[in-house]
Amino acid sequence: MSRLDSMLRRLTAQRDGLNWAAAQVADLPGAALDIGLGNGRTYDHMRKIMPHRRVLVIDRVLQCHASCVPPQEDFLQGEADAMLVGLAGAEIALAHYDLGFGDEVQDVAEAARMSPLVKGVMAAEGIVVSGQPLVGFAELPPPEGIPEGRYRFYRIRP
Ligand SMILES: C[S@@+](CC[C@H](N)C(=O)[O-])C[C@H]1O[C@@H](n2cnc3c(N)ncnc32)[C@H](O)[C@@H]1O
Repeated sequence: MSRLDSMLRRLTAQRDGLNWAAAQVADLPGAALDIGLGNGRTYDHMRKIMPHRRVLVIDRVLQCHASCVPPQEDFLQGEADAMLVGLAGAEIALAHYDLGFGDEVQDVAEAARMSPLVKGVMAAEGIVVSGQPLVGFAELPPPEGIPEGRYRFYRIRP
């Protein structure tokens, strides 16, 4: 598979997974959270598919496309662990975890380290959509059309 094919598959799973998760939590109150603003693609998508929700976003740097700059009050700039500790108890309905940089060993280790902090911000029955495997969550089967392991889905069990 070419790198282009691989990237397209990952981005398609990301988009379809976010759409699915937004529908699953439609009846839950609370904000959404994008962990890793980056270029702003997923943040932009999340605010478009959940126009009724506040979408918070974490990154250590503001380096997104000019059209995706979040309102100052929704952009939590700093190290993700410190930002997640600060958000503990926020009762987030849908979080997207996307801190990966393509170094699998490092990305998986960071995701494991962040997992309890992500859990601490979530509402009961909320959903976490993640590009990396998280630990300590109940993993859901991927929505139809997304192959196992391409993107990951977790439900917060009370
Ligand atoms: C893969 S990019 C996110 C892509 C983004 N979701 C998008 O669709 O454009 C990862 C981002 O996470 C940020 N990041 C990585 N590790 C971080 C950490 N420990 N704390 C804060 N930000 C971090 C990087 O600065 C980078 O912008």
